[in-house]
Amino acid sequence: MTTLLHIKSSLFGDDGKSNLLATEFIEQWQNKQTDGQVVVRDVISNSTSHLDASILTAFMTPEAERTTAQQVITDHSDALINEICEADLIVIGVPMYNFGIPSQMKAYLDHIARAGITFKYTDTGPVGLLEDKPVYLFATRGGMYRDSGIDFQVPFMTQFLNFIGLSSIDTIYAEGLNMGSVAETSLAAAKTQITAAVN
Ligand SMILES: Cc1cc2nc3c(=O)[nH]c(=O)nc-3n(C[C@H](O)[C@H](O)[C@H](O)COP(=O)(O)O)c2cc1C
Repeated sequence: MTTLLHIKSSLFGDDGKSNLLATEFIEQWQNKQTDGQVVVRDVISNSTSHLDASILTAFMTPEAERTTAQQVITDHSDALINEICEADLIVIGVPMYNFGIPSQMKAYLDHIARAGITFKYTDTGPVGLLEDKPVYLFATRGGMYRDSGIDFQVPFMTQFLNFIGLSSIDTIYAEGLNMGSVAETSLAAAKTQITAAVN
């Protein structure tokens, strides 16, 4: 059994362009992978609390000393991390909203950044602790930002994933989605890239 984890973060559910492209990838992947199963983590419809002092304190409290409430918090975080660990490949749909990633995606990532579990600091800098695996990142945006120096979506996602040990990232862009006919060309190019990535 091969497991694909699909992390969704469009406000527009299945109509979101990042979800549509990710679904296109998954359908092609399923046609090839007869024993494939898909696990969905929709960070919009099933959002995670924004990080606050009580959550961070729970993360930093040794298991034997946690209160029941702190254990509930770390159990949720552990479950999110386990989904990643158990996946053979990960497909992430991430739109650009107001120059960055959706705040729900940021909240989700804040729950999987756990010192001693997904990363550690060493004398030579941070080290990611997750086993590397293929990640397909579907990055949608209304304008054109690729390699511009003002792209705070893809470089942020890449940096975060690298930080926890996931460095085999294939980014598929769909840019200019609010730029008239550019959108059609951009989506067609993304679909060509999907077919190449799956095959
Ligand atoms: C609240 C909001 C903010 C947005 N901010 C930006 C932005 O800063 N830059 C940009 O290029 N596009 C922006 N867009 C356009 C989206 O990136 C574009 O519609 C994309 O298709 C969204 O992905 P999705 O369809 O998967 O949700 C924004 C859209 C919304 C709804």
